[in-house]
Amino acid sequence: TYPTLKLRSGLSFPAFGLGTWKSKPGEVYDAVRAALEIGYRHLDCAAVYGNETEVGQAIKDAIAAGDITRDELWVTSKLWNNAHLKDDVAPALEQTLSDLQLDYLDLYLIHWPIAFKPGVGFPRSADDWLTLEEAPLSETWEAMLAAKQAGKSRAVGVSNMGPERLSALGTVGELPEVNQVESHPHLQQGELLNFCNEHNIVLTAYSPLGSTDRENRKDDEPPLLNHPTIETIASEVGASTAQVLIAWAIARGTVVIPKSVNRQRIQQNFDALKVELTDEHMKTIASLDKGYRYLDGKFFASNGSPYTPEGIYR
Ligand code: A2P
Repeated sequence: TYPTLKLRSGLSFPAFGLGTWKSKPGEVYDAVRAALEIGYRHLDCAAVYGNETEVGQAIKDAIAAGDITRDELWVTSKLWNNAHLKDDVAPALEQTLSDLQLDYLDLYLIHWPIAFKPGVGFPRSADDWLTLEEAPLSETWEAMLAAKQAGKSRAVGVSNMGPERLSALGTVGELPEVNQVESHPHLQQGELLNFCNEHNIVLTAYSPLGSTDRENRKDDEPPLLNHPTIETIASEVGASTAQVLIAWAIARGTVVIPKSVNRQRIQQNFDALKVELTDEHMKTIASLDKGYRYLDGKFFASNGSPYTPEGIYR
């Protein structure tokens, strides 16, 4: 059976999905078709990934082919940093719905607690940014809640936020239902996960495999897919290391969205739903935590940015 987690509203959120960050427009169509044929019921998308048109075509064709129904499918998308001002949220969501060829999303997230001026895709100078005083997250959040009220998304949430920011949004209205953050054995987010559990916020783990296809990789990054401890556990349970990482994320009560554009690996990742780890394995993996971010937020602190890397994830 497909793992699910309950949102505060009672909605059932499929705890395993296909990531589409870094999936190129020319490859994401086949990846989504393969995933939906194989049995995936959740797609994680974002406007800034630049591929929602192709994802939308694949969804439409998969539904037409009878691989899945709209009801069975969970589609998440995210508001880009250049549409945080309150009147810009609804139009950004409409554009995403139009690209995805959908009437509604299942989940819409504020992508980052960072704002750019309207029209800026990626900032190049100090002039391209807005501070959080100029574009308060509270106002962005009100517009997200209004979009949910209007039936444009069945749930709303955030991404890349910590307890401080989540709490602040809770004073505006309803708390986010989901917080999507980087999480894997090197960055287990234990404190944040506890906070989210206490407040009925589901945590989605991104970059669960370490996002090795990222630009700006550093030479000294710790290994994940070829971590010796993960390799040992993988051989003990007769699985791949990617499958161990996915099974671990689900077993600890998070949603996980591994990205792949390769049919074999898309299948392999789906088959991780059958991998069972022992308490001993879970304890061993728990000991690997070192608070290491593969996405260190440096980008959002360069090009004349008013933001600092340390400030982002509060
Ligand atoms: P590919 O798309 O060619 O399969 P993350 O989800 O952490 O962002 O990681 C995505 C990266 O991991 C991509 O480079 C993806 O490559 C690779 N990947 C996805 N699934 C597997 C797997 N089962 N084994 C090895 N690498 C994988």
